[in-house]
Amino acid sequence: MIPVLVLHGPNLNLLGTREPQVYGAVTLEEIDRRLREAGEGLGMEVRTFQSNSEGGLIDALQEARNWAKGVVFNPGAYTHTSVALRDAVAAIGIPVVEVHLSNVQAREEFRRISMIAPVCKGSIAGFGWRSYQLGLQALRGLWEVDG
Ligand code: DQA
Repeated sequence: MIPVLVLHGPNLNLLGTREPQVYGAVTLEEIDRRLREAGEGLGMEVRTFQSNSEGGLIDALQEARNWAKGVVFNPGAYTHTSVALRDAVAAIGIPVVEVHLSNVQAREEFRRISMIAPVCKGSIAGFGWRSYQLGLQALRGLWEVDG
Protein backbone atom coordinates (compact mmCIF):
# COMPACT_ATOMS: atom_id res chain seq x y z
CA MET A 1 0.00 0.00 0.00
CA ILE A 2 1.32 3.44 -0.94
CA PRO A 3 1.00 5.81 2.04
CA VAL A 4 -0.48 9.20 1.15
CA LEU A 5 -1.70 12.23 3.04
CA VAL A 6 -4.97 14.03 2.28
CA LEU A 7 -4.62 17.46 3.82
CA HIS A 8 -7.45 19.94 4.36
CA GLY A 9 -7.01 23.63 5.13
CA PRO A 10 -9.05 26.22 7.02
CA ASN A 11 -12.84 26.04 7.38
CA LEU A 12 -13.04 22.67 5.66
CA ASN A 13 -13.93 21.15 9.05
CA LEU A 14 -17.29 22.92 8.55
CA LEU A 15 -18.14 21.06 5.34
CA GLY A 16 -21.70 19.84 5.32
CA THR A 17 -23.05 23.08 6.78
CA ARG A 18 -20.68 25.65 5.23
CA GLU A 19 -22.18 27.22 2.06
CA PRO A 20 -23.52 23.84 0.84
CA GLN A 21 -24.57 25.42 -2.45
CA VAL A 22 -20.86 26.03 -3.15
CA TYR A 23 -19.11 23.19 -1.34
CA GLY A 24 -21.76 20.42 -1.19
CA ALA A 25 -23.58 18.81 1.71
CA VAL A 26 -21.12 16.03 2.56
CA THR A 27 -19.27 16.37 5.87
CA LEU A 28 -15.48 16.24 6.11
CA GLU A 29 -15.72 13.06 8.16
CA GLU A 30 -17.71 11.39 5.41
CA ILE A 31 -15.35 12.67 2.70
CA ASP A 32 -12.40 11.26 4.64
CA ARG A 33 -14.16 7.90 4.96
CA ARG A 34 -14.87 7.81 1.21
CA LEU A 35 -11.27 8.70 0.44
CA ARG A 36 -9.86 5.96 2.67
CA GLU A 37 -12.17 3.53 0.86
CA ALA A 38 -11.20 4.86 -2.58
CA GLY A 39 -7.55 4.66 -1.54
CA GLU A 40 -7.88 0.97 -0.71
CA GLY A 41 -9.14 0.32 -4.23
CA LEU A 42 -6.10 2.16 -5.61
CA GLY A 43 -3.59 0.38 -3.39
CA MET A 44 -3.08 3.47 -1.25
CA GLU A 45 -3.19 3.90 2.50
CA VAL A 46 -4.90 7.27 2.95
CA ARG A 47 -4.30 9.26 6.12
CA THR A 48 -6.26 12.49 6.55
CA PHE A 49 -5.63 15.67 8.50
CA GLN A 50 -7.30 19.09 8.76
CA SER A 51 -6.00 22.31 10.29
CA ASN A 52 -7.33 25.82 10.43
CA SER A 53 -3.85 27.24 10.93
CA GLU A 54 -1.05 27.82 8.45
CA GLY A 55 1.49 26.46 10.95
CA GLY A 56 -0.49 23.26 11.46
CA LEU A 57 -0.57 22.68 7.71
CA ILE A 58 3.15 23.40 7.35
CA ASP A 59 3.95 20.95 10.16
CA ALA A 60 1.79 18.28 8.51
CA LEU A 61 3.54 18.81 5.15
CA GLN A 62 6.99 18.62 6.75
CA GLU A 63 6.07 15.45 8.64
CA ALA A 64 4.61 13.89 5.48
CA ARG A 65 8.11 14.02 4.02
CA ASN A 66 9.07 11.26 6.49
CA TRP A 67 6.29 8.78 5.73
CA ALA A 68 4.09 9.73 2.74
CA LYS A 69 4.77 9.16 -0.94
CA GLY A 70 2.51 12.04 -1.93
CA VAL A 71 -0.09 14.55 -0.78
CA VAL A 72 -3.55 15.60 -1.97
CA PHE A 73 -3.91 19.12 -0.63
CA ASN A 74 -6.82 21.54 -0.38
CA PRO A 75 -5.25 24.66 1.13
CA GLY A 76 -8.63 26.47 1.37
CA ALA A 77 -8.29 30.26 1.46
CA TYR A 78 -4.52 29.98 2.09
CA THR A 79 -4.32 28.91 -1.55
CA HIS A 80 -4.60 32.54 -2.52
CA THR A 81 -2.35 34.08 0.12
CA SER A 82 0.29 31.81 1.59
CA VAL A 83 3.92 32.04 0.51
CA ALA A 84 4.78 29.93 3.58
CA LEU A 85 2.64 27.02 2.38
CA ARG A 86 4.03 27.33 -1.11
CA ASP A 87 7.56 27.15 0.29
CA ALA A 88 6.61 24.10 2.37
CA VAL A 89 5.21 22.29 -0.69
CA ALA A 90 8.34 23.16 -2.66
CA ALA A 91 10.59 22.03 0.19
CA ILE A 92 9.26 18.55 0.91
CA GLY A 93 10.26 16.94 -2.36
CA ILE A 94 7.25 14.62 -2.68
CA PRO A 95 4.47 15.14 -5.24
CA VAL A 96 1.55 17.32 -4.17
CA VAL A 97 -1.76 17.56 -6.05
CA GLU A 98 -3.79 20.73 -5.35
CA VAL A 99 -7.54 20.18 -5.13
CA HIS A 100 -10.58 22.37 -4.61
CA LEU A 101 -14.21 21.44 -4.18
CA SER A 102 -15.43 24.50 -6.06
CA ASN A 103 -14.34 25.76 -9.47
CA VAL A 104 -12.11 28.56 -8.20
CA GLN A 105 -11.65 29.94 -11.72
CA ALA A 106 -15.39 30.60 -12.00
CA ARG A 107 -15.67 32.54 -8.74
CA GLU A 108 -14.35 35.85 -7.39
CA GLU A 109 -11.27 37.33 -9.03
CA PHE A 110 -9.09 36.81 -5.93
CA ARG A 111 -9.70 33.05 -6.05
CA ARG A 112 -8.18 32.79 -9.54
CA ILE A 113 -4.69 33.22 -8.13
CA SER A 114 -3.05 30.22 -6.50
CA MET A 115 0.24 30.65 -4.68
CA ILE A 116 0.41 26.87 -4.40
CA ALA A 117 -0.32 25.68 -7.96
CA PRO A 118 3.12 26.44 -9.49
CA VAL A 119 4.87 24.08 -7.05
CA CYS A 120 2.30 21.26 -7.39
CA LYS A 121 2.23 18.38 -9.86
CA GLY A 122 -1.17 19.64 -11.00
CA SER A 123 -4.50 20.99 -9.84
CA ILE A 124 -8.10 19.71 -9.84
CA ALA A 125 -11.08 21.96 -9.05
CA GLY A 126 -14.83 22.06 -9.38
CA PHE A 127 -15.96 18.50 -8.78
CA GLY A 128 -17.06 18.71 -5.15
CA TRP A 129 -15.68 15.97 -2.88
CA ARG A 130 -14.77 14.01 -6.01
CA SER A 131 -11.98 16.52 -6.67
CA TYR A 132 -10.15 14.73 -3.84
CA GLN A 133 -10.91 11.32 -5.36
CA LEU A 134 -9.57 12.52 -8.71
CA GLY A 135 -6.54 13.86 -6.84
CA LEU A 136 -5.86 10.40 -5.43
CA GLN A 137 -6.17 8.89 -8.90
CA ALA A 138 -3.80 11.50 -10.31
CA LEU A 139 -1.28 10.76 -7.58
CA ARG A 140 -1.62 7.01 -8.14
CA GLY A 141 -0.90 7.52 -11.83
CA LEU A 142 2.52 8.89 -10.99
CA TRP A 143 3.62 5.37 -9.97
CA GLU A 144 2.14 3.60 -12.99
CA VAL A 145 4.71 2.09 -15.34
CA ASP A 146 2.96 3.59 -18.38
CA GLY A 147 3.72 7.03 -16.99
C1 DQA B 1 -11.69 26.02 -1.61
C2 DQA B 1 -11.70 27.31 -2.44
C3 DQA B 1 -11.10 28.47 -1.67
O1 DQA B 1 -11.15 29.65 -2.45
C4 DQA B 1 -11.89 28.71 -0.39
O2 DQA B 1 -11.28 29.74 0.35
C5 DQA B 1 -12.04 27.47 0.42
C6 DQA B 1 -12.35 26.22 -0.26
C7 DQA B 1 -12.43 24.88 -2.33
O3 DQA B 1 -12.20 23.73 -1.95
O4 DQA B 1 -13.23 25.12 -3.23
O5 DQA B 1 -11.97 27.50 1.64
O6 DQA B 1 -10.34 25.63 -1.43
